[in-house]
Amino acid sequence: MSPVSLNEARLVDHVDRLGLEHPPIDLASVDYSVRRPDVFNERFGRVLDYMARVELEVDRNVIELTTLLPDPPEIDRRFYADVWQPQEIQHGLILDELQIRLGRPGAEPDLTSLGVKMRILGAVAHLDAFQDVCRMLYYLTGMATERSAVLAYNLLHAGVVEMGETAVAETIVAPIRRQEPGHYAFYQLSARGLWSQLAAWQKWMVRRMRSLSFAPVGANNAQQTADFGDMLATLRIDQDVEGFAGQISRVERELLWAHRRGLKVPPYVARAFRDAVDLAHLRRAA
Ligand SMILES: [Fe+2]
Ligand SMILES: [Fe+2]
Repeated sequence: MSPVSLNEARLVDHVDRLGLEHPPIDLASVDYSVRRPDVFNERFGRVLDYMARVELEVDRNVIELTTLLPDPPEIDRRFYADVWQPQEIQHGLILDELQIRLGRPGAEPDLTSLGVKMRILGAVAHLDAFQDVCRMLYYLTGMATERSAVLAYNLLHAGVVEMGETAVAETIVAPIRRQEPGHYAFYQLSARGLWSQLAAWQKWMVRRMRSLSFAPVGANNAQQTADFGDMLATLRIDQDVEGFAGQISRVERELLWAHRRGLKVPPYVARAFRDAVDLAHLRRAA
């Protein structure tokens, strides 16, 4: 088998396995009981809100995706339609229900608006030569997003356990975080496979466009960027922003910036995270 078809076979295998082993979480398995709702809300309420919104925005991501990839490979279509969207939407519904039971307003996901960036990318995506550049950008975003989710849910889980909120830890955060590494693995496999097939000019294009367009997951305006910074602070990630930025962009650095020896974190990733933390500080002070 050629390296390309070997990679395709691994992706098909991976998606099959995710579909079999990770059905969407059954709502009947969730126990929403919280021992000390006020304390819990105070500490993690805003994190729940951010995560619920981002998870629920999966439906807009699917629109972005079909704009970016007018003609996606069959395995990408299967992944997002059969595995990813049904799992993520359930994560969002469960987290949102939890925050509502804590007395918070429900999440307000934006399910329809396509940013200018997306419209421009969508327009060039129809040109054959750009298809793969857009597809690569999509995989890079997926990798950073899913890796952020894995790390954030790990920290949230630890915090919830530490508070003795066993029901939430065991029936909500643990089952959700179990499903995120499979998403990350899909994007990583896809990114590695595609990167090896791109021409030098396409790689150059990817680097440029990624440097110009990187944003943390779910942070589409100043308000949301500050919310993201708040979440980093609550999960105590603000104490090691570089470390976190480095972890979510490890494979991206390895692929896109292999020629830049000694580069620990792509500068646009580190900057975006630092800006979010600063913005949250400023908002709190105001
Ligand atoms: Fe999720
Ligand atoms: Fe995910």
